[in-house]
Amino acid sequence: TPQERVELLLGALTLEEKVGQLHLAGDLDPDGSRADIAAGRVGAGILSGGAHPDGPTTSIAATAAGCQRVARTESRLGVPLLLGSDVVHGLATTFPIPLGLAASWDPALVTACAAVAAEEALAAGLHLTFAPMVDLASEHRWGRVGETSGDEPLLASRMGAAAVAGFQSGGRFTAAAKHFCGYGLVQAERDHETLPVGQVALHNLHLRPFRACLDAGAGAVMAGFHDVDGVPVHAHRALLRDLLKDGWGFDGVVVSEWDGIGQLVHQGVAADLRDAARQALLAGVDLDMASGAYRAHLPALVADGAVPPALLDDAVRRVLRLKLRAGLLDPAPEPRTAVHAPADAGPGRAATALARRAAAASTVLLKNTGILPLHGNVGTVHLCGPFVDDVDALLGAWVQPPGRETTGPTLAAAVAGQLASGALLVSDARFSDLAVHRAETADLTVAVLGEHPSSSGEDRCLPTADLPVGQLELLAELAAVGKPVVVVVVTARPLELRPVLRLADAVLVVWHPGGHAGPAVADVLFDRTPPSGRLPMNLPRMEPQGASGTFERASGRRLGRARDAKFGHYLNALGSPELSLGFGLTYTSFAYSELELSRDVLPLRGGAVRASVEVANTGTRPGREVVQLYLRDLVADVVRPLLELADWQTVELAPGESTKVVFRVTADLFAYWDRDLRRRVDPGEVDLVVGPNAARGSAARLVIV
Ligand code: IFM
Repeated sequence: TPQERVELLLGALTLEEKVGQLHLAGDLDPDGSRADIAAGRVGAGILSGGAHPDGPTTSIAATAAGCQRVARTESRLGVPLLLGSDVVHGLATTFPIPLGLAASWDPALVTACAAVAAEEALAAGLHLTFAPMVDLASEHRWGRVGETSGDEPLLASRMGAAAVAGFQSGGRFTAAAKHFCGYGLVQAERDHETLPVGQVALHNLHLRPFRACLDAGAGAVMAGFHDVDGVPVHAHRALLRDLLKDGWGFDGVVVSEWDGIGQLVHQGVAADLRDAARQALLAGVDLDMASGAYRAHLPALVADGAVPPALLDDAVRRVLRLKLRAGLLDPAPEPRTAVHAPADAGPGRAATALARRAAAASTVLLKNTGILPLHGNVGTVHLCGPFVDDVDALLGAWVQPPGRETTGPTLAAAVAGQLASGALLVSDARFSDLAVHRAETADLTVAVLGEHPSSSGEDRCLPTADLPVGQLELLAELAAVGKPVVVVVVTARPLELRPVLRLADAVLVVWHPGGHAGPAVADVLFDRTPPSGRLPMNLPRMEPQGASGTFERASGRRLGRARDAKFGHYLNALGSPELSLGFGLTYTSFAYSELELSRDVLPLRGGAVRASVEVANTGTRPGREVVQLYLRDLVADVVRPLLELADWQTVELAPGESTKVVFRVTADLFAYWDRDLRRRVDPGEVDLVVGPNAARGSAARLVIV
């Protein structure tokens, strides 16, 4: 049986070889690492171009094949290496960044994209991705917001689980949910520091998406760099071993962050690397990425009795099980082929079509005075902005070299393809005189503004969530020309767009849409695909404003007599967001009836209430609407969110068509962790709200009995 094969191999490994299985080399290459691989001192490695620009950039596949050859033919037992990488939103085909995919509110789409990414990664010789990132992003200025699905636990849970399902759909590839846990609470500019979080919030918010990923079968979990209330996660036995492994029964691999074990020394909880290795292994970290602490010190720690051999064996067993699943312990593992060559990247390729569809589906229309959609006979279009001729700038963070080779046409080329010849004027926003002159000549301007991917990602926090310097000024000049202005916002975080919404006639947020952004954005502008994305988190009205959604909890003042006064927000800034979670327009309009409940009493156990609304397409075009269900628990054992996303459904309606959307509500929808960390549902009153976003909806009260 597979189990027996793992045990057999485990029994055959020497102490050094066992420890070698737990060493994930950060700088693997067939020549430099030859002696270590051959001696069994390396069991796994990270192969990545985009993440580590100095690393192998030409061919992940060639490096993988070279290293495996050494492992198979030169090491004593010929155990192949487990090879991982940050395949975050694609490898050869680059899909929208995770925040963009979350804006689709379409888990099936996320699964489809992840499945293609896994297929391409397997073809390159990889077995493990350090994704999905299911941290709840607590603020917009954080560099890594774009790698998350926002800050709403249900959205993050469903998107995380969908990504796991896609990555692992072929059975051989493994997803690592990260960064266990609460990492999204780090304050911008303090990526690696303390989280001010207690167990109740961890359970009710931050652990939920991890649980969802594990329920979807995630084979690995990555520990975060941060510390939870003073205890670094890499040494956090209560979180990793007691809760994740023993409590939840997780039998996969806990992989460290890059040098996360080594950082225990810098965090000041370990005297040296040996002590760090001891603490991490005891805490439950199985695979040591890049620090070398295990390889250098675990053999002696086990020999000295400081680490029980059974715990070492448990870690090795977990790694071997991943290898088994990857097919690496099969008698004659299939040789892997190279990643898709650029020649495979044509528009007819299924993955290309999916990337284009995903980018269009991620697009959120924030404002439209009626200028959109554009028609081929719109006249002369002036397209300007720093990214219109730069495909790389639309790719997003963590893009690997193969992803740069398989991109589609630029935005300028794609828009030109929709217009009569000569009807497109292109200018770079940096030359604002030319841009203004062209705006005067043209019938309308499409300004593509926003952030370059280099201003987002790991260790890329910003002090504000504004548009980059100069862009707003340019937009003001363009708007002053008096012709219609459409703004397309390229970004990895919800930017502060209040002034843009004031100046522009239409605003589309496309996030970092990936390698096929050009045609996708053109599809949306010209109505080949109407925009259907919805904000995956609030759009801030003004910095500093915290995050949104369920992070906003009831407070003594927020709902009391002083509601809407200065309590709960800055004196000179409104507390409400500019636009709320779930907001998004399309080229038609929808009307909702009042919420109706099949009855207003819900049994604590058994039974359900049907909450329904009639949704009608009141416009003149077909459209997709995301009908959202929110809840609020009025009296609980701990402070609960003011509004929590509980479910959503999407409907596609033709003009004039309407449909009844029914949510089945059971009592466990209201379950939460109480102050003793027990999961419970309370009898009593709860509110349900159904609507098109978190700020608008029809409410009804229900009594749980
Ligand atoms: O997977 C990443 C992680 O998210 C951030 N630090 C580096 C890791 C490996 O590249």
